[in-house]
Amino acid sequence: MTLTQLKQRSLLGLKELGKEEIESILERAAYWEQHPVKVHQDMQGKFAANMFFENSTRTRFSFEVAEKRLGAEVINFAAAASSVAKGESIYDTVRTLESMGIDVGIIRLKPNGVLAELASSIKVPLINAGDGNNEHPTQALLDLYTMRKQFGSLNGLNVSIVGDILHSRVARSNLYALRKFGANVSFCAPSNMQATELDAPYVSIDEAMKADVVMMLRVQLERHESGMLSSAESYREQFGLTVERAQTLAKHAIIMHPAPINRNVEIDDELVEHPQSRIFPQMENGVPIRMAVIERALS
Ligand code: CP
Repeated sequence: MTLTQLKQRSLLGLKELGKEEIESILERAAYWEQHPVKVHQDMQGKFAANMFFENSTRTRFSFEVAEKRLGAEVINFAAAASSVAKGESIYDTVRTLESMGIDVGIIRLKPNGVLAELASSIKVPLINAGDGNNEHPTQALLDLYTMRKQFGSLNGLNVSIVGDILHSRVARSNLYALRKFGANVSFCAPSNMQATELDAPYVSIDEAMKADVVMMLRVQLERHESGMLSSAESYREQFGLTVERAQTLAKHAIIMHPAPINRNVEIDDELVEHPQSRIFPQMENGVPIRMAVIERALS
């Protein structure tokens, strides 16, 4: 296999990925969802390394479950318990694992731009598990999968993404992918959490509630400069999905959130497991989506 073919199995983002490629990942995820045998042997003898340089629960563990369900050998790397704590660079760390013979690297990074640089010098396929505020492709794939399961088609679907757009790789990947499928995406955010470089209209919170899908985003305090959030209470009042606002949603509308959740800030506690919420089904859908992405990288 040529280096170019190996690279084509990487998944760095959805901006550059064709609609047909996305479609085939969604179809393959549906296949895995319909084949609930706990452990398959398809990827036996392959090594997958989960390299998380930033904290994670859902992405990290659903990749591990997906790899194990495919029968792959799993190596988990946590930056805090590695030689990164002694100052080793991200490049040297990834090259080290590559030199040991891994077949795919799943990688989450805090700084923007490092993943693209790594992908140009690392030979094994790399899968983006969260890249600064740039892209989070597997999250958006599982979001599209969840929406398709609910509505059948994404064409013409109205999707509001509400919250900390500026710091959100989830908003970016969803925007890029949903547009390819003919969905109408609008954003709603406080003026200091808007990403003006992204080509999507900003609407009021009342307007955002009229969509078929209302996707709430976490306020990413760890990425904020001081003073971006005056108070959790005022944010909730102005931009939160409160019980009162949820009463204005259409009966067919669904509530989504990539999680982790700041309960009673961007979404009221009572709404997290509301009948219209798909927050935990999103997490469930993350496993077949990541099985499809790992299989694409390894097969
Ligand atoms: N949605 C998501 O990426 O969650 P984690 O940060 O827990 O992986």
